[in-house]
Amino acid sequence: MNILIVYSHPSEKSYTFEILSHLKNMLVAQRWNVEVSDLYADNFQGIMTLTEYQREGNADTTLPVPADVIGEQQKIENADCIIFLYPVWWSDCPAMMKGWFDRVYSVGYAYGQKPDQPKMKIIKHGIVICTAGHPNHFLKEIGIAQSMEKVMLEDRLGKRFQYKEMLILGGTLSIENVRENHREQVNELVKKISINPIF
Ligand SMILES: Cc1cc2nc3c(=O)[nH]c(=O)nc-3n(C[C@H](O)[C@H](O)[C@H](O)COP(=O)(O)O)c2cc1C
Repeated sequence: MNILIVYSHPSEKSYTFEILSHLKNMLVAQRWNVEVSDLYADNFQGIMTLTEYQREGNADTTLPVPADVIGEQQKIENADCIIFLYPVWWSDCPAMMKGWFDRVYSVGYAYGQKPDQPKMKIIKHGIVICTAGHPNHFLKEIGIAQSMEKVMLEDRLGKRFQYKEMLILGGTLSIENVRENHREQVNELVKKISINPIF
């Protein structure tokens, strides 16, 4: 199975990076191929340019798609499973990952498809893993967990993925209390993918 991890965090000393390392180890142990789009490390351009906006805003598919966007779209086409991993910043993903959706989900490819244009394939597994400072029960109580799930799973992943799941790894303000539980949740998720693989 080919796994693409789209990852957004600026620091290798972060807890989210620790989760990335653990996740990668678990996936590689299954003998799966793992590719990481490390948006900060790759210096991904997270801001839509005027030219790109003119293409998107007017659904003008005659305008060119930037080379870096085509590169990300090729990674999508190679993947059986995409995992989005990031820290929650202001109740959403970091701006750079939001920019990945803005730019890589280009018109004609991810939406507004036309018969003569290459379109995004349906991917089997779409997984979202985010770390959050607030504990899960609080994020649920204030409705933010539900809103993040709605936006990520129903809109950004949408019908482009067959099986979708979101893990909110909350309570990172006291990491020592949650680390083991978070690792177990990641392990469970990898197990779930392995009993429903694509071959
Ligand atoms: C700019 C910023 C905004 C944040 N906003 C939220 C938030 O809205 N909700 C929340 O639960 N945690 C929030 N946090 C806490 C992060 O989610 C937490 O730092 C992260 O899960 C784990 O830390 P890491 O940066 O070491 O990976 C925020 C952190 C930063 C730096």
